[in-house]
Amino acid sequence: MPGAESFFASAEAYGRLVGRYSAPLAQALLDFARVAPGMRALDVGCGPGGLAAVLAERLGPANVAAVDPSEPFAEACRARVPGIEVGVASAEALPFAEATFDAVLSQLVVNFIGDPEQGVREMARVTRCGGTVGACVWDYAGEMTLLRTFWDAAHEVEPERAAVADESTMRWCGEGELAELWSTAGLGSVRFGSLVVRADYADFEDLWSPFPTGIGPAGAFAKSLDEERRRALRESFERRLGVGDEPFELTARAWTVAGQKP
Ligand SMILES: C[S@@+](CC[C@H](N)C(=O)[O-])C[C@H]1O[C@@H](n2cnc3c(N)ncnc32)[C@H](O)[C@@H]1O
Repeated sequence: MPGAESFFASAEAYGRLVGRYSAPLAQALLDFARVAPGMRALDVGCGPGGLAAVLAERLGPANVAAVDPSEPFAEACRARVPGIEVGVASAEALPFAEATFDAVLSQLVVNFIGDPEQGVREMARVTRCGGTVGACVWDYAGEMTLLRTFWDAAHEVEPERAAVADESTMRWCGEGELAELWSTAGLGSVRFGSLVVRADYADFEDLWSPFPTGIGPAGAFAKSLDEERRRALRESFERRLGVGDEPFELTARAWTVAGQKP
């Protein structure tokens, strides 16, 4: 999937770009998927461990496993969440036996999976009968304010390339699309909804600084520009957000889905 390789990068930059939304989003996802103490759970595409950390708090580290194809992210997750099992693996080939988990979750990952149908089938395979498979993806086209505004600015300064790179063009990120994928994978009692979370910023520089490191598709786009275009992008982004040197807060919406293994 174009963009997936942009996560073979710094966990610290990821934390400053979107990781600041991870913990509240994880709480909301686990509530939606009804993940409760007593369960054993897997985090697929764990990144630096935002969801895995919340899972470990809720279920105890011994009941949590996590995988990510990015070595640096798997390593960061291992360091951040002691006591959980962390492996380097992709959703399409999960290194677990059938029916190992009560719940299998994936936060902000499905749109980056090369073969999402196979990825969700695998998530269902390692879930026990009656167990839950849940996920969420950003509403890139609408109310994920940070990334929507970034791409709107990108369309202004580099329209042709932005038309291709804009994350809202990825599949599975529109309202209801995840539910379709879950049903196709044979999951039952599929529920779809939205989760809204917030993040604080000290100022616009705090928001902007991770983008030129190249993290994620938006960061990769910002990094690829020459200095003049990058400055224009930054100016348009700041103007569109209407923020500056003062602290501010942004909201972000994710679409979410949960289904049961029959
Ligand atoms: C936006 S990050 C989300 C990370 C983390 N779940 C979170 O909520 O912060 C997307 C993650 O998907 C991972 N990823 C990309 N392709 C994948 C695949 N085929 N299977 C599993 N994870 C994948 C990336 O390495 C990256 O860690």
